[in-house]
Amino acid sequence: MSPSILITGLAALYLVSGIQAHVVMNTPEPYGLHTGVPLLQVNPLDGVTYKYPCQSKNFQYTAPTIVEAGNVTNVNFTGGAQHGGGSCQFSITYDTPENGRLNENTKFKTIYTIIGGCPAHFTNEMDNLPALFHDAEQRQDSKHCGNDSGIDCIRNFLVPLPKFLKNGPAVFAWTWYNKIGNREMYMNCAPINITGGTGTDGNMAEFDSLPEIFIANYPNHPQVSYCSTGDGEPQILNIPNPGRYGRVIENPDEPNAKPKDYCSNIPPATALPTFE
Ligand SMILES: *[C@@H]1O[C@H](CO)[C@@H](O)[C@H](O)[C@H]1NC(C)=O
Ligand SMILES: *[C@@H]1O[C@H](CO)[C@@H](O)[C@H](O)[C@H]1NC(C)=O
Ligand SMILES: *[C@@H]1O[C@H](CO)[C@@H](O)[C@H](O)[C@H]1NC(C)=O
Ligand SMILES: *[C@@H]1O[C@H](CO)[C@@H](O)[C@H](O)[C@H]1NC(C)=O
Repeated sequence: MSPSILITGLAALYLVSGIQAHVVMNTPEPYGLHTGVPLLQVNPLDGVTYKYPCQSKNFQYTAPTIVEAGNVTNVNFTGGAQHGGGSCQFSITYDTPENGRLNENTKFKTIYTIIGGCPAHFTNEMDNLPALFHDAEQRQDSKHCGNDSGIDCIRNFLVPLPKFLKNGPAVFAWTWYNKIGNREMYMNCAPINITGGTGTDGNMAEFDSLPEIFIANYPNHPQVSYCSTGDGEPQILNIPNPGRYGRVIENPDEPNAKPKDYCSNIPPATALPTFE
C-alpha cells in the first residue's frame, strides 16, 4: 500500500469513527475537506479536540476559492444530521494560518448573518433527512434543494461579499448555532482569494467596523468568557450584533430556560435585527 493510500485510509477511518454525522460546509472548499489528517470533522467545537477557530488542526487544502468582492459567493453544505437548521454567520479574517493552524485569538469579521433556516427548514424538524448519499470521504449527505428556500432539503446560499474587502488571500468561515439538539457552536473555514475589492492596507475602516462573529457554547477561548445560548430545544438563536448584512428566514425563539451562564447580549426573540 502506498503511503498516500494509507494516509487517505486512516483519515477516512478517523472520520467514520467520529460521532454521528452533522453538517460540514463543502463550498467554498474548506480546509481538510479532501486532504490532510485529520480530515474536516462534522463535530461541533468543544474547546479540546475541536478548538476555536476552525477545529484548529488541519489547514491543508488543494486551492483557494477565487471570490469577487461586490459579487456573491455560493456557500453549500454536506450533511446527514441537520439539527432542524438554525442560525448562522459568514465571516472573514485576513490572519493567515501559520504552522498548520490559526491562532486562537483570531478575530473573524461578520459579513452576513442568517437567523433561522440555515442550512435547512423542515416540515418535521425533529427528523433528520434520510442520509441517502455520502461524499468521497464517507460523510453522510442528504437531498439538496438547489436554492436557499426549499423545505426538507439542504439549502445553499449566495452570500454577498462587500465591495470594501481587500484583495488577496483570506479565510472565510461559516459558524452555526443548530436549532435542535444540544446547544453547540460549529465552525468550518475555507481558504479564499479575494478579487475586485476596494480595500487597501491603509483603508480597512469599513471592514474593521464589522462586528466580530458571535462565540458561545464554547469553553476555553482565551479572550471570550464562556456563555450559553440557553437550555432546551428547539431554539432559533437571535444572534447578537449580527452586523449590517443578513436575513431573517425564521423568527427567533426564546430558549426554554436561561441558565445562570446565559449570554446576556442575546436580544429578546421579539427584537428582530434590521439589515440593509
Ligand atoms: C459572481 O456571481 C455570479 C452569480 O451572480 C456567479 O455566477 C459568478 O461565478 C460569481 N463570480 C465569482 C468570481 O465568484
Ligand atoms: C427551491 O427548491 C425546492 C426543492 O428543490 C423547489 O421545490 C422550489 O420550487 C425551489 N424554489 C425556488 C424559488 O426556486
Ligand atoms: C451542493 O453540494 C451537493 C453535495 O456535494 C451537490 O450535490 C450540489 O450540487 C451542490 N449544490 C450547489 C448549488 O452548489
Ligand atoms: C489570487 O488571485 C489573483 C488574481 O487571480 C492572483 O494573481 C494571485 O496570485 C492569487 N493569490 C493567491 C494566494 O492565490
